[in-house]
Amino acid sequence: MRSKLVAGNWKMHGSLTENEALLGALRGGLGSAAPSECAVCVPFPYLAQAQRLLQGSAVAWGAQDVSEHAKGAYTGEVSAAMLRDLGCRYVLVGHSERRAMHAEDSPLVARKLRAAQSAGLVPIVCVGETLAERERGVTDAIVSEQLGAVIDGLGVGVFAQAVIAYEPVWAIGTGKTATPEQAQAVHTTLRRLVVQRDPGMADSVRILYGGSVKASNAKELFAMPDIDGALVGGASLDPKEFLAIWRAAS
Ligand code: PGA
Repeated sequence: MRSKLVAGNWKMHGSLTENEALLGALRGGLGSAAPSECAVCVPFPYLAQAQRLLQGSAVAWGAQDVSEHAKGAYTGEVSAAMLRDLGCRYVLVGHSERRAMHAEDSPLVARKLRAAQSAGLVPIVCVGETLAERERGVTDAIVSEQLGAVIDGLGVGVFAQAVIAYEPVWAIGTGKTATPEQAQAVHTTLRRLVVQRDPGMADSVRILYGGSVKASNAKELFAMPDIDGALVGGASLDPKEFLAIWRAAS
């Protein structure tokens, strides 16, 4: 059985003061024996604060991006080993905002995933189609290319230590959530891609849904057989809302 994971993606939000309150509320709200996993992916400058405030709690922490390189003359980049140094468990790779605004293509996303795993991090690889692509009926082809680049480049075995997140671009930050049935259909496609290569992974690979997940729609999403949790943007900044989503997964 797969345990559910609810991961927050703070994006470029937060301050030392705001984070202190938010992380404290999460730590307190979760208790120590959590039935579902909970994680927050915070901006790089706040990783040390997350480590200090979450160490020993049931909340894991991680980053939102990582360099494909291990070390060297890469001004502005942050390596996977540095993230491990700060106690990160997770790192997002291939978020649609990075694919769109930083020209990250699927082969680069695969290289970042490999760099993350080499340092012992669990990458959360994000895939998803735009509204225009959905309207053209090419959703399956788009997510298959995005996930296929990882599977073809690195082998399906990487998903023993990686999480997939399906995030339709048209649902991110728009208040428009995919219906549970729309999400389930794409999750089925993604799971099939993994299982075709390794039937043994059918029950282990975790596939999160992301895109305007809120306390009010989480339960119906989590009721779908192939939705193993959520990647939560906006609602992860509100501890009440985020904890309610996590409870819906538990
Ligand atoms: P959202 O963002 O929950 O604000 O739609 C999700 C994400 O981008 O990970």
